[in-house]
Parts: sequence; C-alpha cells; structure tokens
Amino acid sequence: MSTAADTAAPYGAAAATSPAPRKAVTLARIADMHARGEKITMLTAYDATFAAVADAAGVDCLLVGDSLGMVCQGLDSTVGVSLDVMRHYTESVARGLRRVQGTAWLIADLPFGSYQESREQALRSATALMQAGAQMIKLEGGGWTVDTVRFITERGIPVCAHLGLTPQTVHALGGYRVQGRDEATAARLCQDARALQDAGAAMLVLEMVPAKLARAVTAELTRCATIGIGAGSGTAGQVLVLHDMLGIHLGKPARFVRNFMAGAESIEHALRTFVHTVKDGSFPEDAVHAW
Ligand code: KIV
Repeated sequence: MSTAADTAAPYGAAAATSPAPRKAVTLARIADMHARGEKITMLTAYDATFAAVADAAGVDCLLVGDSLGMVCQGLDSTVGVSLDVMRHYTESVARGLRRVQGTAWLIADLPFGSYQESREQALRSATALMQAGAQMIKLEGGGWTVDTVRFITERGIPVCAHLGLTPQTVHALGGYRVQGRDEATAARLCQDARALQDAGAAMLVLEMVPAKLARAVTAELTRCATIGIGAGSGTAGQVLVLHDMLGIHLGKPARFVRNFMAGAESIEHALRTFVHTVKDGSFPEDAVHAW
C-alpha cells in the first residue's frame, strides 16, 4: 500500500545524481529543441512505474506504442492491438506520470483498424487516446494519411506520423524489412514526409530506412522533427522500444538495438545513458545502420 510520502517522491533516492527538475516538455519545447539541433529522446512506455522511471531519467518523450501488443501481450505483430487496449495502457502511463508530476511528452499510437476507415473514425479514435491522457497521437502510413493528419491537427490534436517500416502493414510489406532502399521508394518517402509536414504533423518516426535517406528527409523538414529507429544518426531524435534497450526480448533483437543495461547499475541509469548518448550523438552509430 502506498503512502503520501512515497506518492510524493518514489524516485527521490535518485535525486543526488539527478539534474535540476526540468520544465514540462511541450510541443513548443520540442520545436525549440529541433530548431537548436538538440537531439530529442523517446522511449516506449507501457506502464505507470516504467513511465515514472523514464521521466526521472530525463527522457523527453514517452510513446505508448502499439508494440505493446508484442512486448506485453505476446502477439506476433501489432495488428491485433485494439483501441480499448491502447486506451487502457495510455491511462496507466498517464497516471504514472501524474503520480510523479512527470514532465515527459506523452504520445500514444492509433492502433490498426482505428483510423483507416475515414478521417472521422481517426478523429474519434484520437480523441479517445487524448482523453486517456495522451498529448499527441501517432499513426502509420504515407500519402493516404495526409488528409487525416490535416483533419486531426486542425481540430487541435498534435500528430506524429510514421514512415518507412510501418509494422501495422507488416503483412503487405512481406516482413520487417528495410524500406526506401531503391530510388523510387526513397523519392516517395521524401514526398510523403513533405506532405505530412504540410498537413501539420509535428513529428515523424522514420523506422528502418537507410541512414542517408533519413538524413536527407531530416534536412528537408523544418517544422516536423524526425525521430529515427534503425535509421542512423542523422535524424532529429531517436526512439527505441524500452524492453529492447533493456536487453529483454521474446525473440532476437534488431541489429540497431543497443543493450543499455550492459554495465548499468540500475534501469534508471540505463535510461539516463540512453538520453546522454542520444543527446551527445554517440548513439546510434551509423556503421551499425549501414543498410
Ligand atoms: O509501437 C512502437 O513501439 C513504435 C516505435 C517502434 C516507434 O511505433
């Protein structure tokens, strides 16, 4: 049973090594980091306690990713994750952040089937996740999502887009493969990225694309911060799946994942190392991403 004291400072013990408390991460602060070239850090979070630890470690953005289907529910892919499940996990993470007066920016994934039908369906699903505590929603896909992104952002919901390997369409893509390798698909990805920025997307996850392509897209976008995963070091920020970077997996980890628990004294220490190494540019190393 928790007490008022531990509610106030469950991670107070880390204070001796912690930097001064930071201001809340907002869309404006993310835009400012992007403009100044400060790398943006993002990790997935699926529960209250890990959300609090990641916040204490100084992670800028937490993503309630639909990867929770694989990580927490044991599914084979993210296709089976429902909106109700996303709402449940988003509420848990948001509660964890509230308990510690957390300052991280909270993003939640629109799951497969919750936004493909119409922009009105997408708005309803996005509203549900915002009411569960998210501050931004993420959705996967290129050109066909542009109208939806515009519709949602015009109605006051910040959007993070997602291009490259889009796990919800793994069956259409033929597996978890690198995307944008040839000239035509790379050009289409660049075009989609520009259109998504113009539609109002403030962030864009680029997953498993060649480092050179991710760098080129990043250089073109001034109002939309790219967040890479398996996309090299040239993006405006980096995201990893929490369990992957803690070295715990059901299957084989992707080549681009680093185990930050190796040599760490605690989970919070591992997360702090992730933050430092992304911010100082030492993670990721392009050599590991030479797709
Ligand atoms: O669901 C997820 O965890 C994601 C990240 C891999 C970006 O979309």
